[in-house]
Amino acid sequence: MQPMHRQWIYRRRPDATVGSEHYALIEAPLESTLGAGQVLIEARYFSVDPYMRIGQSGKPTYDADAHPLNVVQQGGVVAQVLASNADGFASGDWVRSYTGWQTHARVAAGELTLLDPALAPVTTALGVLGMPGRTAWFGLTEAGRPHAGDVVVVSGAAGAVGSLVVQFAKRHGARVLAIAGGAAKCGWLRDKLGADWTLDYKAFGDADAMGAAIKAMAGGVDVYFDNVGGIVTDAVIALINRRARIVICGQISQYSGGLDAPEMGPRLLHHMLYQRATMQGILARDYVHRMDEMTRIVAPWVRAGEIVFEETVIGGFDQLPSALNSLFTGEHRGKLLVQA
Ligand SMILES: NC(=O)c1ccc[n+]([C@@H]2O[C@H](COP(=O)([O-])OP(=O)(O)OC[C@H]3O[C@@H](n4cnc5c(N)ncnc54)[C@H](OP(=O)(O)O)[C@@H]3O)[C@@H](O)[C@H]2O)c1
Repeated sequence: MQPMHRQWIYRRRPDATVGSEHYALIEAPLESTLGAGQVLIEARYFSVDPYMRIGQSGKPTYDADAHPLNVVQQGGVVAQVLASNADGFASGDWVRSYTGWQTHARVAAGELTLLDPALAPVTTALGVLGMPGRTAWFGLTEAGRPHAGDVVVVSGAAGAVGSLVVQFAKRHGARVLAIAGGAAKCGWLRDKLGADWTLDYKAFGDADAMGAAIKAMAGGVDVYFDNVGGIVTDAVIALINRRARIVICGQISQYSGGLDAPEMGPRLLHHMLYQRATMQGILARDYVHRMDEMTRIVAPWVRAGEIVFEETVIGGFDQLPSALNSLFTGEHRGKLLVQA
């Protein structure tokens, strides 16, 4: 029987939280004829990332234009080669591609990265040895520039990027305060990832109370690696030390509508002035050309079991939109993946 080609098509822009109502699942018999230099792949794991919701904003973001409607949701994938008409790729090979939420794709070989499952689990190509790892490594080392003894505060600390930033900062000799939602995530950050202090932001109603708790634990803040924005950031910025570095990696608390109609918080930039601090936005794609440099440093730690790279794997292609939605409720730990 001819296999079916299934695709999640992005149909409608969300005003607030994204869910399956913004997508349509379509299927058709798989067209498997290959042109010269093409490879047919079958997806095994799909990356689910917050930037997908950013791309649905009506305002210019990373790109001038929003993710187009009526096309397959873009995204990173780990796949296996089913058939190849290209040198260097054979049936059964594992690859990373950017073919999005579809079960199969016919791609030019140049768009694929060959993976070696003997070196690391293939799923790490979407996590610690992929885009989130690159973001954490270069965001921390190039923009955060932690020194031994610095206090590094990480928000969104139990997620794909944050959980790596916590560990990379510890490796630089920093003292790390990890902020995440719920006691279970905080316990994991302390016991398994080595955070010096943890804070459950959901236990606080306002920035002042949160700031007082952060101050009581860590004093001032030398590096703030921000994944969430909102009142967590309001609390942290008021505590920055002289020449603090603030890394704006993400603002997930604002994605479900707040990018289109910004929620205004307290004006905090006067703290930047008093402390002669630096605030820098960082973007994973700016470091794509330095992927090998990151891999040379981080992959040996992964192979030696020195880095915790937890993955939460949700089963089933049908679950993709609800998995995307779950990024905003925070049920997962580490990198969120969907297995085909
Ligand atoms: N600049 C770049 O190139 C780049 C690259 C990758 C990711 N990012 C950004 O980095 C951040 C983390 O991405 P990720 O892929 O590692 O995702 P993730 O942290 O694995 O998942 C998102 C987490 O955000 C937390 N969250 C959701 N809504 C929140 C809210 N209103 N307030 C506070 N926390 C909230 C949840 O954890 P809790 O249970 O702790 O709430 C959730 O698990 C995102 O902002 C993303 O856009 C940026």
